[in-house]
Amino acid sequence: MKEFLLTDSDFKKIASLVYSACGIVLGEHKREMVYSRLARRIRRLQLDSFKQYLDYLDAHKEQEFSDFINAITTNLTSFFREAHHFEYLKSHIVPALLQANKQTKRVRVWSAGCSSGEEPYTLAMTLNELFPTNWDIKILATDLDSNVLAKAQSGSYTAANVNGLEQHHLQRWFLKSKNGELFKVKPELQKNIYFKRLNLLQDWPMKGPFDVIFCRNVVIYFDKATKDQLFQRYCNILAPHGHLFLGHSETMGKEHSEFKNLGRTMYQKVLHEAES
Ligand SMILES: C[S@@+](CC[C@H](N)C(=O)[O-])C[C@H]1O[C@@H](n2cnc3c(N)ncnc32)[C@H](O)[C@@H]1O
Repeated sequence: MKEFLLTDSDFKKIASLVYSACGIVLGEHKREMVYSRLARRIRRLQLDSFKQYLDYLDAHKEQEFSDFINAITTNLTSFFREAHHFEYLKSHIVPALLQANKQTKRVRVWSAGCSSGEEPYTLAMTLNELFPTNWDIKILATDLDSNVLAKAQSGSYTAANVNGLEQHHLQRWFLKSKNGELFKVKPELQKNIYFKRLNLLQDWPMKGPFDVIFCRNVVIYFDKATKDQLFQRYCNILAPHGHLFLGHSETMGKEHSEFKNLGRTMYQKVLHEAES
């Protein structure tokens, strides 16, 4: 016997609210996950059932909706996750940008769905170590979930969080707390990262163009129509020949002829003849 009653109709209502708010598809196999994540909210609010929670959500939308969505998002991430992407950035993209952008000395990167910040900080470490200091390098880091974004902005990580980082990165870019339990990102690494809350399905306030977009392990939760629309918008906001990185289990269909598939979930915007 479960602690709270979750009927089929409650589950359908939750799935429909989540889908229309942020595109995340909650199939039947996500029922247990939904139960355990929202049960925490129900306990905290001292309610008795999912039905009561849905009524509460309806009556307190302003206040509760972001906690509701924060509870549903999956935020797993790590420093140098899918390390081959950062290797490719280093060996192919940075040398190309050093040449292509040498007049402006400007590079713009977007970590879309940045979770608790490990991805944009990894990008910042990689880029800062390769570009001359007089280059204007900026990283936009966005996420829908306000809790993880606050953690990203604080730049404070536990020893377990930084476990996979090499010693030279830790020493150069982090300050260790006196008791050795926390590692804080140094301000010099943080200063060119702009954290913003952004729902990828809504309007984007920025104009771009971006040289590189990382949107990894985000579209896995979306349906094909949402993904297709998002890929087209990424193409529109990328600079000519800009790069898009997806997560290891995410692919873009062949019909997206606006991108060239470079393998290992890396894509490059293609300029068709009329545009080039
Ligand atoms: C699994 S994490 C991926 C983090 C990082 N990109 C990585 O690969 O390690 C997925 C992130 O996407 C965010 N997300 C999901 N739907 C979103 C949406 N509609 N708009 C913005 N962010 C979204 C979640 O909040 C979550 O932090």
